[in-house]
Amino acid sequence: MEKAGPNFYDDDEVFATYMRHRQRTDTPNETLEKPAILELIVPVANKRILDLGCGDAAIGKEFLHHGAASYIGVEGSQKMAAAAIQMLTGTSGRVIPQTIEDWSYPPEAFDLVLARLVLHYVADLAPVFNNVFQTLAARGQFVFSVEHPVITSCDRGWRAGTLRQDWVVDDYFSTGVRVADWLGGTVQKYHRTIEDYFHLLQTTGFQIEALREARPQLNHFHDPQTYERRKRIPLFLILSAHKSA
Ligand SMILES: C[S@@+](CC[C@H](N)C(=O)[O-])C[C@H]1O[C@@H](n2cnc3c(N)ncnc32)[C@H](O)[C@@H]1O
Repeated sequence: MEKAGPNFYDDDEVFATYMRHRQRTDTPNETLEKPAILELIVPVANKRILDLGCGDAAIGKEFLHHGAASYIGVEGSQKMAAAAIQMLTGTSGRVIPQTIEDWSYPPEAFDLVLARLVLHYVADLAPVFNNVFQTLAARGQFVFSVEHPVITSCDRGWRAGTLRQDWVVDDYFSTGVRVADWLGGTVQKYHRTIEDYFHLLQTTGFQIEALREARPQLNHFHDPQTYERRKRIPLFLILSAHKSA
């Protein structure tokens, strides 16, 4: 039986496997996604940062170390929220153990809202984007990453646990729920096209500033063969937008 995002990460086996994968050398999160995100948001000094679906909040600890004014992570999985609280112990960072659909966003309270690899677990993004818009101060920035729509379209050609070499793209314009076997569990995700994400930002009122696909850069990899393999399939889509003054 497939599970929605936060419940999926609360499964003991999934949680343990995810944490192991996330800390692996040359994990795509560290070699591809994170460098692309950092390029769009640094410097973080003096910024009030909200991180939606913060996971273990490791990046929050880094941001505070680099002078962020504040960091709040919102996390729907109890296990992950506990890991985040532990990660932020001894810092001023806070964790709110709630889903990003249910949290009451304070008005004009943040300079940067980040949402890394969480939005493809959310069925209805329009209210979340509206809340992000309201919670940003004037000229605030919204940066998010999602699994690349090429990946969420269809995973028929891939067996979980094997290395991705090539990829079948199918049903691309049939958006909506997808069920995927991953990390030893079965998860429910939502497929949207690149155009959908772009259009949703525009209709919310954001000024779109950048679109990235986390193109591999050799200097971020320990293993050149992994770098070569990562040049084959796009794994992440990243968008950056501003709330105009
Ligand atoms: C792939 S992990 C990414 C974690 C972190 N952002 C990172 O990049 O390291 C996705 C995270 O989003 C959380 N999540 C999924 N759906 C959520 C929701 N609706 N509300 C809050 N958190 C959610 C999961 O529990 C998980 O911690």
